[in-house]
Order: sequence, then structure tokens, then C-alpha cells
Amino acid sequence: MQIDYATDQMAETTRTVRVMPDPAYAGLWDSIVLDSSIKDRLLRATALSLRLRAQLPFETTALHGLILLYGPPGTGKTTLGRGLAHQLAGITADRQARLVEVNPHGLMSAEHGQSQRAVTQLLTEYVPSLGDDGMATVVLIDEVESMAVARSEASLAANPADVHRATDAVLAALDSNTAQFPNLVFVATSNFVGALDEAFLSRVDVHIHVPAPDLAGIVEILKHALRSMAPAFASLDELACDPRLEEVARRLAGADGRRVRKTIMEAMLGRHETVLDPGGTTINDLLAAAVRVMEDGGIGQRLPEELK
Ligand SMILES: Nc1ncnc2c1ncn2[C@@H]1O[C@H](COP(=O)(O)OP(=O)(O)O)[C@@H](O)[C@H]1O
Ligand SMILES: [Mg+2]
Repeated sequence: MQIDYATDQMAETTRTVRVMPDPAYAGLWDSIVLDSSIKDRLLRATALSLRLRAQLPFETTALHGLILLYGPPGTGKTTLGRGLAHQLAGITADRQARLVEVNPHGLMSAEHGQSQRAVTQLLTEYVPSLGDDGMATVVLIDEVESMAVARSEASLAANPADVHRATDAVLAALDSNTAQFPNLVFVATSNFVGALDEAFLSRVDVHIHVPAPDLAGIVEILKHALRSMAPAFASLDELACDPRLEEVARRLAGADGRRVRKTIMEAMLGRHETVLDPGGTTINDLLAAAVRVMEDGGIGQRLPEELK
């Protein structure tokens, strides 16, 4: 269910709100192939933060209600953050949880001088207006580095003063929201922890590293992706069982999960026949695609020279 709380145009571009369980979000958690202890840690940290902060004051817990997912791009952090809200709905007393997605890029690209106002408005007016009803709520701040940027790095930004004020606004709003509303948990994702503000990092209760997949993980991602396409192209189920997927995985060593998934489409577009019938994709198509993906980044990255 999509609830439209938007009151102005800027807000619409920077946030979405959904109440879980939501069928569109049900598969996200399982779609990310990751050591189960990492996922468990994320879900437990979220549930425990809600529990402890509901029953004890900040002076006792020193918890800010802030969890950070960090790691290389394309490793599933955003997907996990979204899936987390759905999983959380399975364990709350009322079997519900809300997901608020904040897109800092939308905020920070607001017109000159407007980003601080936008951040402040979102975190001090909008988020508290949701917190009031007591529903367990995950506020996903995706790619937080564009919002809570280190002051030392700020001189590189086009408008450093604005970035400073925006960072201060984020920190102040985090403090007041999580103190006032123990039913809120902020989950921030970051591809570049080094760019994050020290004061922001020191507020993080639990850091969770999301690594790129190892060889076994790459095989799993390929299998998972092929199987999920099998309802449309049945023979991909067989391809998912091919032992030479390991060889494909070896060729993809070092690739992030996103690139691994894209290898399948790269394999399908390698021949005219497989474009007409994607179900006819073979292990050799995948092997060849893996080389292309690692050589030039594969789909979407093979830009004409003049665009590079
Ligand atoms: N470990 C993984 N297992 C399966 N799919 C993955 C994995 N990592 C990334 N992906 C896929 O790559 C895409 C990008 O994931 P995303 O969550 O946006 O990554 P991030 O936020 O870390 O950049 C998604 O389609 C996701 O399903
Ligand atoms: Mg992301």
C-alpha cells in the first residue's frame, strides 16, 4: 500500500512511504545472497533497538536508533534496507511495519540553498508526523554520504556552507527523532564510509559490512537469478543446475552482485537467437558474457567513447 503524505512537489521526489507487509517487497530479503549471519544481525539489531529504546531511556541505552550498512556499490545494501522493513513486519506485535525511503540525492539536488531546508523539513516535520502512531518504522536513508558529508570533505562540494548546514540538520534531527520516537529506526546505507561525517559515524549503534560475493555466492546469485526467470523461460531452470556455473563464477571473481545479475542479460543479448528466445541461453553464452562483463562492465557500461 502506498500512502501519499506528500504535501509539496519537492517532498514527492525525496521520499516514499509504505506499510508492510507489502507483496512487492516480500521477495527482496531472500533475493540477496549473503551470509545469513549478516542478515540475522541486521534484523536482530533493528528489533533490539526498537525493544530497548521502547523500555529504557537514552541515558541507559545510549542508543541512537541508527544502523549503518556499508560496503562496495552493487552489493545489495539498498535492497536489504527495503526488505528489512518487510521482515520486521513479521515479528512486531501488530504484524506491521512502515518503510520510509529517503533519497538524499533528491534532497541535495534541490535548488541552491534549499537542501538544508529540505533535509530539516523532512526530518523535523515529516518523519515525526509519522512517528506519532507508534508503528515500528524503518527510515531508510540511502547513500547517506550525500547528506551527512564529512566537514573535511565539504570544501570539495560546490556549496560547502550549505553542505555543513545540511549535515548539522541531519544530526540534530536524528537526535531528536530517535529520542522522542523509540518506534523509529534509521537505517543508513553508504558506499563510501570515508566520506561520512565523524559526528554521524559516532552515533551509529551497529555497523554492518555488506561485502561483495565470494565464488560460492556468485554461483548462488546466478542460480537464483536464473530460477527466478524460469516461470517465463522454463529451460533456464536446467541452466541453473549446470555445474559449469562455477566456471562462470570464477570468471566473475571480484564482481559485485549487481554485475553478476547483469551477466544473465549480457548472455542473452550475445546472440540473435537468444534475444528471440531467451530460454535458449546456454552455459557457453554465460561463459562468454562473464568475460565481456569483466572486460568492459557489460550492459550499460559500454558507452560510446564520446560519452566516457
Ligand atoms: N548479494 C547479492 N545477491 C543477489 N543479488 C544482489 C546481491 N548484491 C546485489 N544484488 C543485486 O544488484 C542490484 C543492486 O543492489 P542494491 O541493493 O541497489 O545494491 P547497493 O545498494 O549495495 O548498491 C539489485 O538488483 C540486487 O538484487
Ligand atoms: Mg544502494
